[in-house]
Amino acid sequence: MPATSLDQLVSLCKRRGFIFPGSELYGGLANTWDYGPLGVELKNRIKKNWWKTFVRGREDMVGLDASILMNRKVWEASGHVGSFADPLVDCKKCKQRFRGDKLLEEKLGVEAVAVLKLAQIQPMLMAEKIPCPACKKIDWTEAKTFNLMFKTHQGVVEDEGTLVYLRPETAQGIFVNFKNIVDTMRMRLPFGVGQIGKAFRNEITPGNFTFRTREFEQMEIEYFIEPGTAGQYFDHWKQDVWNWYVGLGIDPIRLRVREHEKDELSHYSSRTIDIEYNFPWGFGELFGLANRGDFDLTQHQTFSGQDLHYTDPDDPKKKFLPHVIEPSFGCDRTVLTLLLEAYTEEQVNDDTRIVMKFHPSIAPIDLAILPLSKKENLIAKAQELYKKLIHETDLSIDFDVTGSIGKRYRRQDEIGTPKCITVDFGTLGEDEKQGEKDTVTIRDRDTLKQNRMSMKEVLETLKANR
Ligand code: GAP
Repeated sequence: MPATSLDQLVSLCKRRGFIFPGSELYGGLANTWDYGPLGVELKNRIKKNWWKTFVRGREDMVGLDASILMNRKVWEASGHVGSFADPLVDCKKCKQRFRGDKLLEEKLGVEAVAVLKLAQIQPMLMAEKIPCPACKKIDWTEAKTFNLMFKTHQGVVEDEGTLVYLRPETAQGIFVNFKNIVDTMRMRLPFGVGQIGKAFRNEITPGNFTFRTREFEQMEIEYFIEPGTAGQYFDHWKQDVWNWYVGLGIDPIRLRVREHEKDELSHYSSRTIDIEYNFPWGFGELFGLANRGDFDLTQHQTFSGQDLHYTDPDDPKKKFLPHVIEPSFGCDRTVLTLLLEAYTEEQVNDDTRIVMKFHPSIAPIDLAILPLSKKENLIAKAQELYKKLIHETDLSIDFDVTGSIGKRYRRQDEIGTPKCITVDFGTLGEDEKQGEKDTVTIRDRDTLKQNRMSMKEVLETLKANR
């Protein structure tokens, strides 16, 4: 069973070094979070797994790492300057500001609100008698649109001419490099470009831990195809992504696909589906798959004045603007989902054991080496093993001598380490009852079974599990 309340997980993340509140030393900064030593390992493993699965592991994919700051014309062309906005309403009594559509969604549902026009939001709030969440009065201003892009200035002068935006999606870095990539990498359709990076949105209602933040990471693919072939690629991507999530250990019972209603579609999309996860507060978007058609390349061609047509290498007379299928993954939401999914509470001998049952391929630590006690020769032997393994393998290994062996096992359970090995007097060849010389006890996180084996066998077991 995964975590049933977010509080359980937030507390474990803080206690065990996965995720800390941002700027905590100075009283925090609302809705910012820092990945701690174990959180960054987990996130890096997820990103590495994603890159290997979708970029390095496929012949039809290449990677990119574009800048966060881009020429602001990019955002005029992409439609973000004009359309990337939320409808805001102010409470006339306490002056607090909220997203009008979100206030209505709780009462009317997502689908009903998606079709409302801006001018209908305030009358609907009044008609439904929806109170201000802060002061509980029902007195709303007209809804006004608010652009979600963060603004800053490049250089020392802060005027209109130096205005730049922090990118609200990584996707546009791929579109503006489309021609560079085709020309330098001799790519043939269909092919895709993958990118992992930060995106920024001045969200009005961030919250639910790392689910919705203003600074977040995306893992995005723009998959370029011949016009008229979108249907088949859309379905392939849906299946590949679903399989990737399930392969990382998410129980499909908590996943579902949701098709966007026509009125809910982003300005660039003719079809979108989300893969949603059943979070403790209900189903929420984990991943989005959109058919962007030739919207972006057409826009960039018009705004830049550059020819972005693709020429068929087998038929130079065939020139066209490719269409695009976009699989877009929230990296932080993937981390959050895998944390929730791993969180388990179990009764063991009248005691509650908290254990993070991460899939072995993403566990922040692969193996813990624990000398049975603080005896010098045990520590020396365990350290010798630790150094050998660090040198000879790419395993992420923890070495822990502090506290009783029981407490150390519990700590490793809470950080999700799949295997622990204990070095004892048997390992040293000083106590046959504990085991043969150079053998160790290996303990499995999930079954709690302990076996005696040689270090060679330990390594084979670890490799087989990853
Ligand atoms: N390029 C398409 C695009 O950006 P999106 O649905 O707005 O589409 C893609 O975002 C994914 O990014 C979402 O499925 C979600 O996982 C993640 N995401 C979006 N906004 C987020 C936020 N404020 N905080 C955390 N993750 C977010």
